[in-house]
Amino acid sequence: MAKTFADQLASRLNDALSKTDFAGELPEGFNAQIDQAQNRQFGDYQSNAAMILAKQLRKNPREVAAAIIEQFDGGTLSEKPEIAGPGFINFRITQESLESVLQSLLNDPDQLGLEKAAEPKTIVADFSAPNVAKPMHVGHIRSTIIGDCLTRVAKFAGHTVISDNHIGDWGTQFGMILWGWKNLLDETALETDPIPELLRIYRDVNAKTKDDEALKEVCKAELVKLQGGDEENLKIWERCIELSKIGLQKIYDRLDVKFDYWLGESFYNDQLAPIVDELLAAGIAEESDGAICVFFPEVEKLADKPTIIRKSDGGFLYATTDLATIDYRINELKADAIWYVVGAPQQLHFDQIFLVSEKRGQKAELEFIPFGSILGKDRKMLRTRSGDTVQLADVLDEAVVRARVIIDEKNPDLPEEEKAEIAEIIGIGSVKYAELSQYRMTDYIFDWDTMLALKGNTAPYLLNAYVRTRAIFRKLGKDFEPGGNLTLTADAEKDLILKLAQFAEVVPSVLNDFRPNTLAAYLYEVATTYHKFWEACPVLKEEGDIRQTRLAICELTGQVLRCGLGLLGIRTTEKM
Ligand code: ARG
Repeated sequence: MAKTFADQLASRLNDALSKTDFAGELPEGFNAQIDQAQNRQFGDYQSNAAMILAKQLRKNPREVAAAIIEQFDGGTLSEKPEIAGPGFINFRITQESLESVLQSLLNDPDQLGLEKAAEPKTIVADFSAPNVAKPMHVGHIRSTIIGDCLTRVAKFAGHTVISDNHIGDWGTQFGMILWGWKNLLDETALETDPIPELLRIYRDVNAKTKDDEALKEVCKAELVKLQGGDEENLKIWERCIELSKIGLQKIYDRLDVKFDYWLGESFYNDQLAPIVDELLAAGIAEESDGAICVFFPEVEKLADKPTIIRKSDGGFLYATTDLATIDYRINELKADAIWYVVGAPQQLHFDQIFLVSEKRGQKAELEFIPFGSILGKDRKMLRTRSGDTVQLADVLDEAVVRARVIIDEKNPDLPEEEKAEIAEIIGIGSVKYAELSQYRMTDYIFDWDTMLALKGNTAPYLLNAYVRTRAIFRKLGKDFEPGGNLTLTADAEKDLILKLAQFAEVVPSVLNDFRPNTLAAYLYEVATTYHKFWEACPVLKEEGDIRQTRLAICELTGQVLRCGLGLLGIRTTEKM
């Protein structure tokens, strides 16, 4: 597959630059950039290179632009560029190029024009990572959905991605759970549905300890026994983990999220003491009031914020585990990069452990990919009516019930089984899309009506656009068959093809700053552009090449929507 339009234009633009009179004066390594045009009235792509250069060369920007255009050879790719405003250079892709890209994209259904990364990396993606026997709440939904999407995009771009669910399976919550298990457990409830029962225990004990200092101490003692290797407590703990994993797996199955590993915190228990010793020996860590700490005097904002890696009572911490985890991922999993999709409140923790890793001379790229909160309509943290944290499983159930209403309205005659399947796709897709269409740092408002609306930037709207691309072939009575002379005759066709060709420009950009919302915004534009095409260009009423071309456009739109939604982790449906 050839390069994208943006890449081809950029290389032609840089060629032109090298032929100008001022070629010798260009700043070292100067590389002119091409952007997609915001306003298509003036062109399809745009460059501000002339303006940047004019400043550096102390020349008039419009004159610089004219000199570049003078040397620009658009070949069959683009028309003669135009100068706009203070010195923008605008490019328009030729009809010929649009026709040929339609053909080449149809010939490339797997990648749709996206070239695989030239230097593929091995990336460990750390996301979801709920804490065992505590509720997996909607906060974890952000990590799970964003992490899964980034994993999919990175794989599609040609990287090797290892997903690792670093569950919190060794936390202090086990003190309470152990006591609760021994004193409050309802065995039958545990047999029927373990997660709610574990949760009930946790909540009950938590409430009881609120004003019972003695009980708090008893729970602590249970935890110490567990950490000391007490057989009974270890058995209970193991059972808890096992049951919790089964419950979590059910949620991941519904979300279509897969993990290559579940290396929880406990997996690293043996590594904690050695790592502390190593850091002490290397002079990276030091003793302070009985605790072992790493100080960061070299970083101003962390000057008074050391990280503790061993408490004065000998206990290890979250940070110690994360340091051991980095070792394992670099040494055993051969990671070049590690991505952590974790809520913004953990910024300090990751700043600290990344610095420690640097001090140890580790080379892997460590990326903290934080996200904001999910708010209720009242703009406060999302809660249930009774004030509890909202549970992920309940959110998914309700989404599906609500999606069912849409199908019953739109397509009441579908068989029951199909309706249920489609409701699952729309419901879960809507929850995911509401998440992914927002910039991850935004605190977004969780609102059923907006997320399930058939109009607007929503999953149902996009899924419906996809359904339309498929409906045409159902009407036709057969699948798309290649052939004919693809010829474009309407602006709406050209607009849509240009959009579709930009898939390969947009997808890699998601990884620049880990923004799935760029892909979501792009897919929404594909859907609205398709809608305009649909209104302007009859398909089945036409004949010959025009009809064949339009069928090809419908086919390709369907492929881009399906592939793009797939990268967001959203399944498509042929009907709705
Ligand atoms: N279990 C943690 C929590 O729920 C998230 C873990 C994130 N990953 C990590 N390597 N620290 O807050």
